[in-house]
Amino acid sequence: MSPLPAFFTPYQHTITRALDAMVPAAASPFPDGAPPAVPVSAAMRYTLLAPSKRVRAVVVLLAAELCGDDSRAVAAACAVEAIHASSLILDDLPSMDDAPLRRGQATVHTVYGEAVAILAAFGLLNEAYGHLSRSYEGPLAARLTSLYADAVGLDGLVSGQAEDVLATDGVLSFETLERIHRRKTGVLFSAAATAGALTAGGSPADVGALTAYAKNLGLAFQVVDDLLDVIGTPDETGKAVRHDARKTTFVSFSGVEGARELAHELCHTAKLALTPFGQRASRLAELADFVASRRL
Ligand code: IPE
Ligand code: IPE
Ligand code: MG
Ligand code: MG
Ligand code: MG
Repeated sequence: MSPLPAFFTPYQHTITRALDAMVPAAASPFPDGAPPAVPVSAAMRYTLLAPSKRVRAVVVLLAAELCGDDSRAVAAACAVEAIHASSLILDDLPSMDDAPLRRGQATVHTVYGEAVAILAAFGLLNEAYGHLSRSYEGPLAARLTSLYADAVGLDGLVSGQAEDVLATDGVLSFETLERIHRRKTGVLFSAAATAGALTAGGSPADVGALTAYAKNLGLAFQVVDDLLDVIGTPDETGKAVRHDARKTTFVSFSGVEGARELAHELCHTAKLALTPFGQRASRLAELADFVASRRL
């Protein structure tokens, strides 16, 4: 077992508290306090507040800390978690991965139905951008919004996910697979690191180093995700396993050992990007070690 680094716990609590406030339960319109008839906000909270590692949020917070000011990073960390949660809801739909289990509980569409699940995903994505615009002043709000929009957009998560789904049952080259992984997962990690650095007013050199770190970390994260589909358990990952049978993954190319080795190499490269920060980057280095050998 490779547990999350111990330093994660307070960061996770900070983020979960802030997410709880960001997407509050809908007020009951009825005098007896009965829940609203349309459960979209419940479905949003169901996914957003379920147990998660909060890795992307932690990357935002650590990047800001390293750049010398973590006082303004929480909203950007919450926005990236809302974007991530919305992508998970869509990823699990019957038309995509048709997954029964997420974060240790039944997937949102199996509980609330597909229509509400799709609307909850839109709701979370919308809330992410609204939260940025309410939390930061003009130029920084604009910069963070376009950063996250690029990460989600046609050179990011949306096209990565589209290509991933359309490639089901197909044969992919190593280069195509790497592009899909970078887009569907890696780009959001890079955006998280960049966002953290920007909220702290980091120098271009700091932003560059942190973005390079996260780019490699994010790709490693997806390589290990594919690996855990083969060697993990639902108890550890909170997801159904052996679900990628119809997909080309790094495990199909390189086998279990090869995929683990690739993840270690990518995490090593990620850590090299931290060299300018010295010992101050020890937590990000520990996070890279966790990602390379994680079982959850
Ligand atoms: C799962 O992400 C989806 C991928 C991009 C691999 P995580 O493994 O970070 O999921 P949570 O947030 O901890 O549930
Ligand atoms: C999903 O990749 C990446 C996303 C952008 C959601 P997977 O489909 O492998 O993620 P899991 O295994 O369902 O979490
Ligand atoms: Mg998928
Ligand atoms: Mg999936
Ligand atoms: Mg997976």
